[in-house]
Amino acid sequence: MPYAQVVPLELRPFVLEDEDDALRAWRDFQGSRFAFLTSYYEGQAWPEYLEMLSRYREGRDLPEDHVPGTLLAALADGVLVGRVSIRFRLNEYLATYGGHIGYAVIERYRRRGYATEILRRALEILAAKGVSPALLTCDDDNIGSATVIERCGGRLERVGPDEHGVPFRRYWVG
Ligand SMILES: CC(C)(COP(=O)(O)OP(=O)(O)OC[C@H]1O[C@@H](n2cnc3c(N)ncnc32)[C@H](O)[C@@H]1OP(=O)(O)O)[C@@H](O)C(=O)NCCC(=O)NCCS
Repeated sequence: MPYAQVVPLELRPFVLEDEDDALRAWRDFQGSRFAFLTSYYEGQAWPEYLEMLSRYREGRDLPEDHVPGTLLAALADGVLVGRVSIRFRLNEYLATYGGHIGYAVIERYRRRGYATEILRRALEILAAKGVSPALLTCDDDNIGSATVIERCGGRLERVGPDEHGVPFRRYWVG
């Protein structure tokens, strides 16, 4: 039985009470290719960041290179284990490289099926908004992420170089 059926995951927007755990995760991801908190900058006040996310979710005050979307915290038994960024539509960059969904699981909670469940739920959220199939991408050597996408039914479209020449995979799901 998949782990995710044992521990149900909650996906919800970040709230004020998440500040310590979310910023700890953000720091832990510093230096990796991945930002745990999208568009967060060092020292930004947490309430201000949450306000910004809620404007972006509604498509208000979006920077030119952003599309409406949501960043959701993933919690297992009330503990922050990861996050997912869901883009409700694609711009040229996302249509080429980024895709509709980006997820991350905090290192100590990996290999428990959380990313697979996060992606499954994110696909449902997108489908409810009329977005299906969804474009998913990952580095060619990111075996974990590729496995997660394939477990959610991902169909490999192609492997090609990203904007830095690094091979990445494009999948369609749904
Ligand atoms: C990729 C990532 C999200 C996977 O999260 P996770 O919660 O560990 O994934 P799951 O537990 O759902 O893994 C499902 C399967 O993928 C495979 N897998 C996961 N991580 C793996 C790894 N590091 N190496 C090889 N296989 C891996 C396994 O087969 C695993 O199932 P199993 O544990 O039953 O064998 C996580 O490693 C992460 O956050 N990495 C950094 C950010 C990132 O790369 N995000 C994706 C960007 S496209």
